[in-house]
Amino acid sequence: MEELAPTNLYERAAHAARVIRARCKDEVRVGLVLGSGLGAFADDLEDSVALPYAEIPGFARSTVEGHAGRLVLGKVDGVPLAAMQGRFHYYEGYDWGDVIFPVRVLGVLGVRALVLTNAAGGLNNSLKQGSLMLISDHLNLMGANPLRGANDERFGPRFPDLSEVYDKEFQEIAIQEARAIGIELRRGIYAALTGPSYETPAEIRMLRAAGADAVGMSTVPEAIVARHMGLKVLGISCITNMAAGVLDKPIDHAEVIKTGARVREKFAELLRRVLPKLVTT
Ligand code: HPA
Repeated sequence: MEELAPTNLYERAAHAARVIRARCKDEVRVGLVLGSGLGAFADDLEDSVALPYAEIPGFARSTVEGHAGRLVLGKVDGVPLAAMQGRFHYYEGYDWGDVIFPVRVLGVLGVRALVLTNAAGGLNNSLKQGSLMLISDHLNLMGANPLRGANDERFGPRFPDLSEVYDKEFQEIAIQEARAIGIELRRGIYAALTGPSYETPAEIRMLRAAGADAVGMSTVPEAIVARHMGLKVLGISCITNMAAGVLDKPIDHAEVIKTGARVREKFAELLRRVLPKLVTT
C-alpha cells in the first residue's frame, strides 16, 4: 500500500531515507555534496546507483546550470557513500527547508561524516584561480539560520554549539592527504551570502576585514544542519575565480564552471583519498 505523505520534517526525512535504502543495500556512513562544476566526481563511483532527485520524496529539483540533480550511491575504495550531484540554493527560489532537506535525509539515513564542496571566489591573495581551500570556519551572512522554527529533538538540540563546525580531525586528514599527493591545500574562512549576484568590491573589502578568505552562496546552511544532527563535517572550496575587485575584471559564471572542470582531476584525486578515511574516525 502507498504510504501517506508524512507531515513533519523528521517523518518526511525518514520516508525519503526508506526510499533510498530500498535502492541501496549498503550502510552508507559518508555523504558528499558536490558543488558547481564539481559533480562529475560521482560519475566514477564503483557499483553506483543514481537516483534523480525527482524520485526521492520531499526533494526539490535542481535547476542551475552545472548541477545534475541526482543522488549517486556508490563506493570509493569499497567504502559506500551517498553523493549529491547538485544542491539546492536559496537564490534559486527554494525556501530554507528545501535547501537543507537532503542533509536531514542523509543524517536519518545514517551518514556520520559529511563532505561539503563548493565553488567560491577567493579573497585571500595566497589563493589563486584553481586553488583548493580547506574550510576551517565560516561566516553565515545569509541573513537566516536554517534551524529557525520549532526544534525537533530527534535531530538535535535547540541551541547547538558551533565552536567546531568543520571537524579538526577531518581537516588534518585532508591536509595530510593533500600533502601526500602534492596538492596545495590551505585552511581558510568561508563567508556565505545568498547571491545570485556576485559581490561588489566594497562588499569584498568588508568581508576581508571580517576575516573571510573565500566567498560563496552555499554550504553554510548544510553545515549548520549537519552539526545540529551531530554529523562531522569537512568543507572544501574550489576557488573558481578571484572575488570582485581583487583583479581588474568582471566575474563570469561560465568561467566559474570552467575552472571547476579544470581542477576536476586534482579535486577528485583528493576526494578519493580522503573519503574512505572518514569512516573510521
Ligand atoms: N562570489 C560568490 N560565490 C561564488 C563566487 C564569487 O566570487 N565564485 C563562485 N561562487
